[in-house]
Amino acid sequence: MSKTVLSINHLQKKFGKFEALKDITFNVNKGEVFGFIGPNGAGKSTTIRTLLGILRSSGGSATIFGKDVWQDSVSIHERLAYVPGDVYLWPNLTGGEIIDLFLKLNHQKHTGHTDELIKEFELDPSKKARTYSKGNRQKVALIAAFSTDADLYIFDEPTSGLDPLNEEIFQKHVLALKNNGKSILLSSHILSEVERMCDRIGIIREGRIIETGTLTEMRHLTRTLVTVQTRKPLPDLSTSEGVHSFKNSDNVANKASFSMDSDKMAQLMLTLAPLEIIGLQSTPPTLEDLFLRYYQKDEQGDGQNEA
Ligand SMILES: Nc1ncnc2c1ncn2[C@@H]1O[C@H](COP(=O)(O)OP(=O)(O)OP(=O)(O)O)[C@@H](O)[C@H]1O
Ligand SMILES: [Mg+2]
Repeated sequence: MSKTVLSINHLQKKFGKFEALKDITFNVNKGEVFGFIGPNGAGKSTTIRTLLGILRSSGGSATIFGKDVWQDSVSIHERLAYVPGDVYLWPNLTGGEIIDLFLKLNHQKHTGHTDELIKEFELDPSKKARTYSKGNRQKVALIAAFSTDADLYIFDEPTSGLDPLNEEIFQKHVLALKNNGKSILLSSHILSEVERMCDRIGIIREGRIIETGTLTEMRHLTRTLVTVQTRKPLPDLSTSEGVHSFKNSDNVANKASFSMDSDKMAQLMLTLAPLEIIGLQSTPPTLEDLFLRYYQKDEQGDGQNEA
């Protein structure tokens, strides 16, 4: 059963005449990790700051736990944890003091779990925040968020300063939250992170959501790279439906590479099977391929901006 935790409908935000958000619509369901991706300045943080009740929207609506994000922000925050990308900390407090302060502000307690997180992220909580590196400041906010018992966790590029080991610890804890039925909105530029963790993804560009869905659904819209070798003569498939960039191997007979519309794959297999396939390799597009494709597509101005 999917229960909507967060719902955004045609959200708009203007800064003066500038429309930072033109049309944002997506939902986050209970127990899912929703990845929010898009280039710099697309409107991810503006969307998130509107959700947090920091900014007032100029149109449309947004609810969390069925409540209006602006009107009911106080009660929403009782069940919400948030980590921004650039964490500001009180410079004269120690990391440990700040973690406890964050927890107190959220009506939470420092527990054994908090100590485990401090150990796992290898944070020295006795140091003053002003001495922390960017990664250490992020760890402070992440430890506080992960030791908070909330229903929705919002992360806005939380790992931009973390090294790969800490990135992995972050991912482990996000997945643990998800397995406990919590919901997560994760904005990130680390596409491998999104690819690995997110159940569904929303792609934002210039203040509009241009695509939402599972990675599998998005892959259907794009092409798979195929390399095939057959025993019987391989015909020129360049005119077959769904086949693109067909190229015969220069040095191996009956071997070719091409890209293929994912939804035409079954038809192609019927053509290839009687030719006695010796080798077949198919590589689905990565999220990075998809991401680049969406932006290039839009830049060419093919009118795909009304998703
Ligand atoms: N307070 C503000 N006043 C005016 N313009 C703003 C304000 N905050 C954001 N903007 C503009 O709104 C647009 C969206 O910014 P936003 O920070 O939401 O992007 P983002 O998707 O989070 O980008 P990044 O990946 O770089 O974090 C940008 O053009 C930005 O300059
Ligand atoms: Mg941002």
